[in-house]
Amino acid sequence: MAHACGQLFASPSAQPGVYMDFNKNDAVARRIQAFSERVAMAQENGLYFYNQPAQEILGGAKAVYHGRVMGMYASYSYLGLVGHPRINEAAKRAVDKWGTGTNGVRSLAGTLTLHDELEETIACFKHAETAITFTSGYVTNLTVISTLMGRGDYVLSDKINHASIVDGCLMSGAEFRRFKHNDMDDLERRLQHVPPDASCLVVADAVFSMDGDVIDLPRTVELCSKYGAYLMVDEAHSLGVLGKTGRGIEEHFGLADVVDIKMGTLSKTIPSVGGYVAGKKELVNYLRHASRAYIFSAALPPAQAAAANEAFKVIEEEPWRIERLNQNTELFIGGLKSAGFDTMLTTTAIVPVLCGSDEAAFMMTREAQQHDVFVLPVVSPAVPEGQARLRATITAAHDPAEIERAMDVIATAGRQIGII
Ligand SMILES: Cc1ncc(COP(=O)(O)O)c(C=O)c1O
Repeated sequence: MAHACGQLFASPSAQPGVYMDFNKNDAVARRIQAFSERVAMAQENGLYFYNQPAQEILGGAKAVYHGRVMGMYASYSYLGLVGHPRINEAAKRAVDKWGTGTNGVRSLAGTLTLHDELEETIACFKHAETAITFTSGYVTNLTVISTLMGRGDYVLSDKINHASIVDGCLMSGAEFRRFKHNDMDDLERRLQHVPPDASCLVVADAVFSMDGDVIDLPRTVELCSKYGAYLMVDEAHSLGVLGKTGRGIEEHFGLADVVDIKMGTLSKTIPSVGGYVAGKKELVNYLRHASRAYIFSAALPPAQAAAANEAFKVIEEEPWRIERLNQNTELFIGGLKSAGFDTMLTTTAIVPVLCGSDEAAFMMTREAQQHDVFVLPVVSPAVPEGQARLRATITAAHDPAEIERAMDVIATAGRQIGII
């Protein structure tokens, strides 16, 4: 049966261009046109790989696309928790008990005991006094940075921090400076230029989402304390990944409670959706009463809150997943390197396979996907020109034999295309 929307637009009475005329020669129309042409060209050449619908997700390691089971090397389910029976059950129980939505925003009728339980679980897991949740990781960065910082303040952000951090910094209206990637001398120079009476926030990803390397936390902490700056770290790709028990960046470096604003997402290792900040009671209380995404946007749905809550418990009770992830990561990075690939500075589950030109990255992707290895390309402007890459991710759910096969496929493609 045709979709109602399809019928509407196919109807002869529908008048194209009545609402927005994209053929005008203004900046908006030109922008849209330029993008449409870029996408259409990639599609015509069979080099468009985005927005492909998965027909089935088979744990973190496999998925069905175009009717074929593929090895999944683009999933953030680092510990392979997606589809975990206990987590699914918790979500189902929450739907049975609470329904599928909340009754509005957290501050008014939207807070459920489930939200309080989840925030307690997160605080406990992160060894923090308390925690607050939001409906996405993106929104968490946006609202937290822009609520804490304002005109006259300074925000120092690593050059390759995630877009949500950049957007939060811009939205805050504070003086926004970027320091060279993971370069502590440059960070110190920038800190020296902050007026002594100004508030300053240093913000960085724990694991950088395009390169997979880890922030130099000990030096960052040292500098923040020397110059009296607050420190915020985004643990989107380190929660469940770094540290012996998956508690993240502080555990990885053996440092206890050195990050003021411990931010993370519930959409990667934790197979749900949402974002959190863990920290001191005063900080969280302030965010609960002043951050606009908390006050003016609906609460996390019950199933998602319950799933996230259960996932933290599973991480604690199934520590073998972290060990397995570490073994798989070592196998994957080591194998790609010995095949001759440049995997940059990664030591984590995000593994860039440097291709060079955008075209080379697209061709590598096509070859890999044609051989049932689902990887995705990252091209400019998301990464600097000439540093286009496959951005492969590895999980605890992968079997070493599958990883070997994926590496063979990638290496064969790399030789064909002339990357190795
Ligand atoms: C470092 C980082 N922070 C924040 C986010 C946003 O998180 P979410 O997808 O949960 O909104 C992402 C998402 O990819 C990320 O990589």
